[in-house]
Amino acid sequence: MPAAEPVDWRDGLPHSPRFGEGYRSRSGALAQAATVFLGGCGLPQAWQGRTAYAVLETGFGLGINFLATWARWEADPQRCSLLRYRALEAYPVAADELLRSARQALAEAGEAAHAWSRLPELAQALAQHWATLRAGLQTWMLADGQLELTLAVGEVVPMLGELEPSADAVYLDGFSPSVNPQMWSPQALAAVARHGRAGTRLATYTTQRGVRDGLEALGFDVRRCPGLPPKKHRLEAALQPHAAWGSPAIAQAAPEPGA
Ligand SMILES: C[S@@+](CC[C@H](N)C(=O)[O-])C[C@H]1O[C@@H](n2cnc3c(N)ncnc32)[C@H](O)[C@@H]1O
Repeated sequence: MPAAEPVDWRDGLPHSPRFGEGYRSRSGALAQAATVFLGGCGLPQAWQGRTAYAVLETGFGLGINFLATWARWEADPQRCSLLRYRALEAYPVAADELLRSARQALAEAGEAAHAWSRLPELAQALAQHWATLRAGLQTWMLADGQLELTLAVGEVVPMLGELEPSADAVYLDGFSPSVNPQMWSPQALAAVARHGRAGTRLATYTTQRGVRDGLEALGFDVRRCPGLPPKKHRLEAALQPHAAWGSPAIAQAAPEPGA
């Protein structure tokens, strides 16, 4: 495992000394996961009735979006039979930070906490695998083999090229473009788009102009939606049919996956 990334806890909120920014919204990690990421990708409805469904996340961080997705999927009687979750992360934190983050997220959820009561248990199950974490790719089977988590530990663009390209939903969750431009570069967005196919949904909290324009140039249909306070807006996008995997705009900007 690479040296664990330090997390600075300030008033109960996790902060990154490397990037000088908090890991999540001040409105609550679970509210953000549910509204911005799951909601932004049309989940849980989008996986209902499907045999398999694949989520791709840039920026695994403290794993809150993953745990929230797991909790929602597990609670859904119409869930897909196999949930494949792929995420990349250059600077993994220690297992203890994942656990602390999950406890804290639940504590700050207020009246919504009952909907997330399984979170600490799911975090424990994730943390049990954490000791085996290495640079590069690893896949862990969770939830009796019905949830496949692939973690790609390394830099965003090369790691996106290593992952098998297939995503029904994409969560873009780097730190802000101003402090973390690598996660939002044209190359990173194109490498993400290579994982998509016609109709792939994408969600993010930022509405920064460069991100919107970059996604549109790759063939995403992008909409600004009401955001989670204090943010006014968030983005929802869907990959248009003509822009699916292999289109010239995407091919020019990103290396072949696995190349
Ligand atoms: C806002 S946090 C993600 C929070 C996370 N989604 C969660 O649910 O806890 C952004 C993450 O992107 C990671 N990151 C930043 N730059 C990166 C890069 N160039 N390549 C890969 N990961 C990066 C950071 O280490 C951080 O964990």
